Amino acid sequence: MDHSATREEALARIAATQDLDTLEKLRVEYLGKQGSISGLLKTLGAMSPEERQIAGPQIHALREGVTDALAARKAELENAALEAQLASETVDLSLPAPESPRGTIHPVSQVMDELAEIFADMGFAVATGPEIEDDWHNFTALNIPESHPARAMHDTFYFPDKDGEGRDMLLRTHTSPVQIRAMLAQGAPIRIIAPGRVYRSDSDATHTPMFHQVEGLVIDKGITLGHLKWTLETFLKAFFEREDIVLRLRPSYFPFTEPSVEVDVGFALVNGKRVLGGSGDAPGHGWMELLGSGMVNRKVISAGGLDPDEWQGFAFGVGVDRLAMLKYGMDDLRAFFDGDVRWLAHYGFSPLDVPTLSAGVGARA
Ligand code: PHE
Repeated sequence: MDHSATREEALARIAATQDLDTLEKLRVEYLGKQGSISGLLKTLGAMSPEERQIAGPQIHALREGVTDALAARKAELENAALEAQLASETVDLSLPAPESPRGTIHPVSQVMDELAEIFADMGFAVATGPEIEDDWHNFTALNIPESHPARAMHDTFYFPDKDGEGRDMLLRTHTSPVQIRAMLAQGAPIRIIAPGRVYRSDSDATHTPMFHQVEGLVIDKGITLGHLKWTLETFLKAFFEREDIVLRLRPSYFPFTEPSVEVDVGFALVNGKRVLGGSGDAPGHGWMELLGSGMVNRKVISAGGLDPDEWQGFAFGVGVDRLAMLKYGMDDLRAFFDGDVRWLAHYGFSPLDVPTLSAGVGARA
């Protein structure tokens, strides 16, 4: 039997299809289980061997021809669909991104990132400690024994229950307990900063019950006040991005440092505003109290499990919120923690504006 008419008709219908669904229907019509070509194949079984020898190759050739035509048309239709899709979905990369709500990096986070960057350059690692602290790490180990007046000065938030070892639990009042934790955990030498939240029961325009400090601690051999002064000067010059930062060291008192040093920074009055830089003793200038520091007390080094005859060090603690206010010009600390999106949009930083020393740690996008 001659199948050329069937073949011509099938190829013409396949070539005329305009979509994949129609093509699939044709495939089923010819090659599906109940399809006409499949039906022809089934007739082979009933034929004599001689008939089959002639009809077999013809039917197989028909099936092959239709199968190939279906595959070729399928590829053409798929290609055409892809082309159409690509043509309709062009993207203009020069268009600005659509306006959508954008978050910002809080100035406190930004300043902490800047500090980490500046101190990393001087070989300091970042250390952390818990905000829920025990009385021993927060006070006793820092040479503030029970009944010491400094405990009262800290306006501490205590928890009602003691810890497993009978210690009072509290919200840490400063980042200094991280000094003890770092010494006990890693031994000496040490070069760390420890930024984080601290808590004191105090609230007005310049005090909030929660605020941020960064602690600095260096423990090594032969450390002196000179190292402390150089480190603070280098840090503050990098942080405020001014070479003319001038520090004044004043004797002070902290139980955990001996001697203790209060550090003031010189400022100039420009249009009634304080601008850091220059000596506070110059005409039109003044000194602003910035941070507490000193040589780590021998008792604290011992509490940290180290031998104070072998190891010396310095420590400092500074308010991160205060640093942010001085650098970026906010004047009400409470606004830092209101979560007002207008304040955040104004004072916040672009998430892409990662502080680096080479770009200027405080570069604004
Ligand atoms: N912990 C002190 C405070 O909170 C600051 C400080 C830290 C002073 C380290 C000296 C050394 O006021």
